[in-house]
Amino acid sequence: MVWKNNYREKLTSAEDAVKVIKSNDRVVLGHACGEPKLTVDSLVKRAKELENVEIVHMVSYGKGEYAYPEMEGHFRFNGLFIGPSTRKAVNDGRADFTPRFFSEIPSLFSNGELPVDVALIQASPPDSRGYCSYGISVDYTKPCAESARVVIAEVNTRMPRTLGDSFIHVSDIDYIVECDYPLYTIPVPEIGPAEERIGENIASLIEDGATLQLGIGAIPNAVLHFLTDKHDLGIHTEMLSDSVIPLVESGAVTGRRKTLHKGKMIATFIMGSEELYDFVDKNTYVEMHPVSYTNDPFIISKNHRMTSINSFIQVDLLGNVNSETIGPNQFSAVGGQVDFVRGAIRSSGGKAILAATSTAAGGKISRIVPYLDRGASVTTSRNDVQYIVTEYGIANLRGKTCRDRARVLINIAHPDFRDWLREQARTTYQII
Ligand code: COA
Repeated sequence: MVWKNNYREKLTSAEDAVKVIKSNDRVVLGHACGEPKLTVDSLVKRAKELENVEIVHMVSYGKGEYAYPEMEGHFRFNGLFIGPSTRKAVNDGRADFTPRFFSEIPSLFSNGELPVDVALIQASPPDSRGYCSYGISVDYTKPCAESARVVIAEVNTRMPRTLGDSFIHVSDIDYIVECDYPLYTIPVPEIGPAEERIGENIASLIEDGATLQLGIGAIPNAVLHFLTDKHDLGIHTEMLSDSVIPLVESGAVTGRRKTLHKGKMIATFIMGSEELYDFVDKNTYVEMHPVSYTNDPFIISKNHRMTSINSFIQVDLLGNVNSETIGPNQFSAVGGQVDFVRGAIRSSGGKAILAATSTAAGGKISRIVPYLDRGASVTTSRNDVQYIVTEYGIANLRGKTCRDRARVLINIAHPDFRDWLREQARTTYQII
């Protein structure tokens, strides 16, 4: 087999592989829990030899050492999403943030806006024909590797072999680093009584036969407890998390009534526990695709009764939703929120749900506000927004006047803030 010789010739160590990276290069890291560990560590060790290397990444669960203060001048982080390890660098001005819908991140790399010098990725060991699977991170990782000048792949025996449009052939990799370490995992989020009530409210909107997108965090996790008696749900999502396993096991998710990819769960990246990674390994029920496909609103909308469930930080009385900044500080990013809101709204019988507890910061701050904080971003605008859900109920804003939006939103705000919100609606917008 030619590919086997090819594979052997490309084998190297992480230290040697990253020697190909030069000053002023742009390096893109494989996404989320699929981030490679050995090559990133080796690159960081070379910091003093390098100047102005741009590191591009999205959700980061790694150490993020390239964004430490002492790395200034050597590495410059450019985030397409902000995670715990990169938030401080961006908000201190030592790193950059580039806003972009998740569905359009692959085109950043392929259309010349951000040409990629080196892609650092992780993949599964090859099959008998030389194809490695991108495993838990297909998202932008596959399109990025396809447009990069150089591809360095850590071939990890622990990377599950996911199926779908999720393969790279050994001939398309330039350097191979064999490894065997556990992938990054994230714990199942804890849910409190407020999240439970939100889960119950959301579940009341979900019809049998609906196709679901479940976002990250406690709320999507809370919803699943109330879905076990639903029938023939389907999954077309950006991120696949542990929350889906009990739904498959209870028989609530079958995909039988899906109008696109019937009988399959569609996702672009997977983030969760080792149990989840075992579940997706060689699982023909799960199909992975690049994010330019899964998150394309027109593709999403082909699923009838598409129901997207995501979270937010603040919503103003007109329905402008901020899901990514705390005041002027970038907290996360748009990710796939607007992709799925738009896809769900276009879908026949679709519903776009944005949910959060009515207050933040231990009850001190209302998430329903007269206007977004100074410097905050509008993630989902009032023109796109549909359902807002809190523990106090459900507000459907679509087709409603500004006056009616304010009324239904105040009804689901925390009772301690309702009088203040009514007063603000009157004085700021003259609508109540
Ligand atoms: N003012 C000040 N602080 C606020 C706040 C506000 N209005 N709203 C939230 N916060 C604080 C919280 O108290 C919390 O702080 P803590 O960690 O110290 O307790 C922190 O900000 C995070 O808020 P929380 O709402 O608990 O975050 P979360 O982990 O549930 O994530 C989003 C919610 C909206 C940030 C997250 O879902 C996101 O990034 N969404 C955009 C991307 C997306 O939707 N992608 C599609 C699905 S994968």
